Amino acid sequence: MNKENDRSLEWYINKLKELNDDFEKRKGRKKKAAVITFGCQMNAHDSEKLKGMLINSGYDMTDTEDDADFVIYNTCCVRENAENKVYGKLGFLKHKKEENPDFKIALCGCMMQQPTVIETIRQKYRHVDIVFGTFNLYKLPELMIRNIEADSPIFDIWKEHGEIKEDLPSVRKYSFKASVNVMYGCNNFCTYCIVPYVRGRERSRTPEDILKEINELVKDGVKEVMLLGQNVNSYGKGLDKPVTFSELLRMVNEIDGLERIRFMTSHPKDLSDELIYAIRDCEKVCHHLHLPFQAGNNAILKAMNRHYTKEYYLDLVDKIRAEIPDIALTTDVMVGFPGEGKEEIEDTLDIIKKARFSSAFTFIYSMRTGTPAASMPQLDECLVKENFNRVLETVNPIVEEINSEKVGKTYKVLAEGVSDGDSTLLTGRMSDNTLVHFKGDKSLIGNIVDVKINESKTFYLIGDMIWT
Ligand code: SAH
Ligand code: SF4
Ligand code: F3S
Repeated sequence: MNKENDRSLEWYINKLKELNDDFEKRKGRKKKAAVITFGCQMNAHDSEKLKGMLINSGYDMTDTEDDADFVIYNTCCVRENAENKVYGKLGFLKHKKEENPDFKIALCGCMMQQPTVIETIRQKYRHVDIVFGTFNLYKLPELMIRNIEADSPIFDIWKEHGEIKEDLPSVRKYSFKASVNVMYGCNNFCTYCIVPYVRGRERSRTPEDILKEINELVKDGVKEVMLLGQNVNSYGKGLDKPVTFSELLRMVNEIDGLERIRFMTSHPKDLSDELIYAIRDCEKVCHHLHLPFQAGNNAILKAMNRHYTKEYYLDLVDKIRAEIPDIALTTDVMVGFPGEGKEEIEDTLDIIKKARFSSAFTFIYSMRTGTPAASMPQLDECLVKENFNRVLETVNPIVEEINSEKVGKTYKVLAEGVSDGDSTLLTGRMSDNTLVHFKGDKSLIGNIVDVKINESKTFYLIGDMIWT
């Protein structure tokens, strides 16, 4: 057995730290690293772990490639444009690498789990130093050392997941809120989607590990957690002692000091009555449910392998609203799946009108090589654009209307930061996830305050803080 495999993550982190301390002595500054994330909250959370390992290895973090000695792109491949962005960035970095051979480039994340991508990088992007995938994130320090020792590019992509690695160092963007993985992977194989191929099969963390992590986060000042999984509704199925997601929510709700619990994403086919009751009963669980429906037409839903019908989805929405009247529903919609013509899109518009989403992520279908939908006849772009515009025109007035109904009322808002456009304003989120801007001092960041809404815009609200 290769001796290197016996060395622990800590060993590699310490080794890197020694090298970086030496660099600092010679150059009078620390090495800087940038972790740049493409993709979903899952990837963003992986990036927090990458940053944690880099900081422990003696790096200072920076946000851009410009002043970095080491750059990692944590990639996404859910749509083609996410991939193109990465190739564009790599082309751009070629000059930087030529000017400074000590500058290092690493690639990781979902896109790297595709053999065709690895082939392209080997052939066309030879200036990349380290490539790894979604299953061996925690190998970063080891791969960095191996790259230095070998003085040649290192590729380490695993086809399958190993054991779940607990207790990785991690840094949070916000001191008061944190993401927590409850499960990894996806078993659903929606026919358009690449995620199951690049993230592997579903596997859940044990409730003990999840609760331990959240307890530690709360001790560290966290008030809000976001529980993450591609399909949280099937949480716990493969555990030695099976636990349901609603049972997990009830356990997390008991944690003293925690104030808000969010989670995503829920697949409609697995949303149980027990989960609806748990959201209703647990006072810390936010009244927001992200429930992607993708398409409204039953034949399209069947071809997508979504395992529900339009009628089932709308009944589910009614059931949820009957139990939790003030819940905000948000969704993902895709336009342009093979076979979705002018008639089929009417069903999508019908769901939007009936379900009344507080916000919707709208995507144009992107063909992903290797998925079943890639071998179906693809649609004409003009038709897709037309349908896409009709979806936007239907979504937006409803979002505006829902926001305007909040004017004059007072809500609890977690102050999250200073507003980008105006430094006298704070920005925060209501329990139902609506974005609110209000006048306030920076010292309030991280606190939950009462805000009376004065004005509504399409995608956010403006209000005044009420002192109680
Ligand atoms: N697991 C989550 C979503 C993961 S991907 C769920 O099932 O809800 C996030 C969103 O990207 C999906 O909801 C879908 O709307 C969109 N998406 C996935 N594959 C896509 C593709 N090939 N083209 C366009 N959008 C896609
Ligand atoms: Fe993709 Fe479907 Fe799994 Fe979501 S549930 S990640 S859309 S395969
Ligand atoms: Fe997320 Fe993109 Fe991967 S959406 S799971 S980062 S393919």
